[in-house]
Amino acid sequence: MAILPILCYPDPRLHKVAGPILAVDDRIRALVADMLATMYDAHGIGLAATQVDVHERLVVIDVSEERDQPLVLINPELVWTSAETHMNEEGCLSVPGIYDGVERFDAVHVRALDAQGESRVIEADGLLAVCIQHEMDHLMGKVFVEYLSPLKRNRIKTKMIKQQREARE
Ligand code: NI
Repeated sequence: MAILPILCYPDPRLHKVAGPILAVDDRIRALVADMLATMYDAHGIGLAATQVDVHERLVVIDVSEERDQPLVLINPELVWTSAETHMNEEGCLSVPGIYDGVERFDAVHVRALDAQGESRVIEADGLLAVCIQHEMDHLMGKVFVEYLSPLKRNRIKTKMIKQQREARE
């Protein structure tokens, strides 16, 4: 297992659209293990392959308190969304230190393959539903700050570029 470097906004690679995974093989299982290790190491609740510069439709999530309930979603597709939506405060490992409100469906059903390549449907609400929608956006090249006003987004962009410059010095 390896801890992978996480791309930081506004890295243009975060806007690449991920392609489908054709076979859940040893390469994918190794990537899943690395992504889980990376997510836990960064104290995140979700990580999309896009964030580690792999542009394939794979997401790992763990919203449990004990950090012992990993969820692996390969080629996830939303098959149902609730009529109700809600504003939730979100953050992202690719936009460290920034939290802001995003409107999301209250509940979703997502069809995906698990790490064994088995197809299943997960019925999610609450934090898990929010997390699934956030991570699936990453696979489409979308970062949550893109839901914010251009003014806010530009402020965040400037802050991130400054942080990254300071980190290199
Ligand atoms: Ni994120």
